[in-house]
Amino acid sequence: MELKIPIEKIIESLPGGHKIYENPAEYDIAIHKHPFLKEMKERIFEFAKQHLNENSRIFEYGAGTGNLTEVLADLPFGYFLITEDDKKSYEFLKNKLGNNPRLTFEMRNIAKESNDKPFDIIFSSIADHHIPFDQKINALRVIFSLLKPGGYFIVGEELLDEFKDEASRIEALKSYHGAIIQKSIERGYFLTAESESMALKNGVDSFDEHKVSKNQHLKNLKEAGFNLVLAEKMGPDDGRDQGVYVIAAQRSK
Ligand SMILES: C[S@@+](CC[C@H](N)C(=O)[O-])C[C@H]1O[C@@H](n2cnc3c(N)ncnc32)[C@H](O)[C@@H]1O
Repeated sequence: MELKIPIEKIIESLPGGHKIYENPAEYDIAIHKHPFLKEMKERIFEFAKQHLNENSRIFEYGAGTGNLTEVLADLPFGYFLITEDDKKSYEFLKNKLGNNPRLTFEMRNIAKESNDKPFDIIFSSIADHHIPFDQKINALRVIFSLLKPGGYFIVGEELLDEFKDEASRIEALKSYHGAIIQKSIERGYFLTAESESMALKNGVDSFDEHKVSKNQHLKNLKEAGFNLVLAEKMGPDDGRDQGVYVIAAQRSK
């Protein structure tokens, strides 16, 4: 029997106003069961392995509870700076991965300029959609400025179909999150379904969730000076131009 998710009820019944990573321990469990993120992390790891050498400087922002960080830490070499902006997530992250001597941690907002020595490769996973629409280009410019010429910027991100107005933005959100909620319930991952429901509610309310379309994300990268090198969809397999993507871009040499 096919499940029919009561998407309107989910939106109406949730209180809203809560960040999905408000409770880092629960978020960490939920995110590890998110369909398509395993593939996303594997693809990022593969890309990274091909573009690193033993002297590489690696930067990850919006690391959260270390969902991608713990995978990157298995790369055979590199110096890693790992940043996260939310205090509770940062403390959880340090507690979880803080005794790995290869990783350096810092609490930092990506949209703020910094004078770090430039990096060879910059990563993030499902963090950019928390940056407000009017700060996205600025954040990308900061990232660009933190890369060496020829350096790579690789993200795993949830991107939407092209939307022309608020109604089509909300339709795209319902379709994407609905598919993730449904898959999570079918697999018995109720914490993931709950977390996705909150993400949907927050997206509709534009509270801490500001997802762009895939095309808009690619345009933003171009505007910030990047050249696109990879755009691969991980799922869901719904025939739409939206879902979990791995996008890699390069700063010109
Ligand atoms: C959905 S979580 C993703 C965490 C982790 N990367 C993962 O894959 O599970 C988004 C993270 O981005 C962080 N974040 C949001 N806005 C940020 C910003 N402007 N600068 C740095 N981190 C930010 C949040 O604090 C949160 O931990």
